[in-house]
Amino acid sequence: MTEKSSSRRPGFYKLSITERQKQLDLEGLLSVEEFNAITAQAGLDLDQAGHMIENVVGLHSLPLGIGLNFVVNGRDVLVPMVVEEPSVVAGASFMAKLARPAGGFRAESTPPEMIGQMQLLEVSDPQAAVNAILAEKDKLMAEAGEIDPVLKKLGGGPRDLQVRIISDSPIGAFVVLHLIYDVRDAMGANAINTACERLAPIVEGLTGGRVHLRILSNLADRRLAKAECTILLDELAFGDFTAEQVRDGIIEAWAFAAADPYRAATHNKGIMNGVDAVVLATGNDWRAVEAGAHAYAARDGRYTSLSTWSKDADGNLKGSLEMPMAVGIVGGATKVHPTARAALKLMKIQSASDLAEVIVSVGLAQNLAALRALATEGIQRGHMGLHARQVAIAAGAEGEMVDKLAKQLVDEKTVRIDRAEELLKLWSRS
Ligand code: MEV
Repeated sequence: MTEKSSSRRPGFYKLSITERQKQLDLEGLLSVEEFNAITAQAGLDLDQAGHMIENVVGLHSLPLGIGLNFVVNGRDVLVPMVVEEPSVVAGASFMAKLARPAGGFRAESTPPEMIGQMQLLEVSDPQAAVNAILAEKDKLMAEAGEIDPVLKKLGGGPRDLQVRIISDSPIGAFVVLHLIYDVRDAMGANAINTACERLAPIVEGLTGGRVHLRILSNLADRRLAKAECTILLDELAFGDFTAEQVRDGIIEAWAFAAADPYRAATHNKGIMNGVDAVVLATGNDWRAVEAGAHAYAARDGRYTSLSTWSKDADGNLKGSLEMPMAVGIVGGATKVHPTARAALKLMKIQSASDLAEVIVSVGLAQNLAALRALATEGIQRGHMGLHARQVAIAAGAEGEMVDKLAKQLVDEKTVRIDRAEELLKLWSRS
């Protein structure tokens, strides 16, 4: 591991922004253009933005921080995270540090197989339609294999065609086809939607029915990423809390989410704080990842925790997280957005699976950060410092006054804009 790429950076948070850029040697890791893109000197320009969506009149910025201390499958990774919420980057970085002594995160992913759905209506005999489709399955698969020559060259393409009958819908019975498609390093929405649209007339010809919807499913349960980590018991004690108290408190907190959907929604939101931050930094479709995550959390008919926490035979804390991860590194904003490209370069990502494995590791770290805080001193203490700075700025504080005012608000345990304005007024008179 070279010093350049090490993600272990003690005292990083105390540096100025320019010092942080220097210390990471971002200029050494990235080209001039990439450096400028990631340090916000020149990210997305208006012209590029105008080609991405409609009615563009401007840009909207968010902070980009670096998740530190991450080791994923033995590799040190500097993780760019884009998020507006205080404590997310700090929380993930701190938990990644706790995971380091036991080797960091071990992550794996399934092949990048997405599901495309076709809704077949107006068949008088659904079972006969299913039989007709299955009888021509090889032909349909071969046809699907020719649709995207680039994907074919890269080893992607159709992997399976599954057919089932939905018998209890509000409009009665109909047939659903699932085209399983390996999309390699793409997120895959375009490839899969195109394939479904191209197969639809053939399916109609075989069955005499009408193919209505032709669209990918965001429940990407064949494109899963999984991360595990072990936190050695010794790493867990802090303040007045013993290591056993922290470990058992985390497991108890997880059990709440495992058993109760009201808690699970918040628990999983904490996971998505980390997941979305990297998905966003890399220009990926965070709504798709969100949809997949929550649908997967309810896959057994009851919404539950995406992660699990337990203790191993040596009494260490063990965590794991498995979830769909439909992210790509080619096409769409991942290619067009200069900051997204620089983010992938900074992480030295070689494939969509690599990216998925880093993201799920960050999600697990983020989950641990929330549970550790909730199970011990509560979430507000950690949040307050940064929140107080935001309140101070919103109240009109500038320069050194931001920290002074924030400290006063925290000391008074009154982090409110009215008190911040009052203090500013008071101090301006003295
Ligand atoms: C806040 O953004 C996320 C948490 O609510 C997650 C959790 O409760 O596990 C702290």
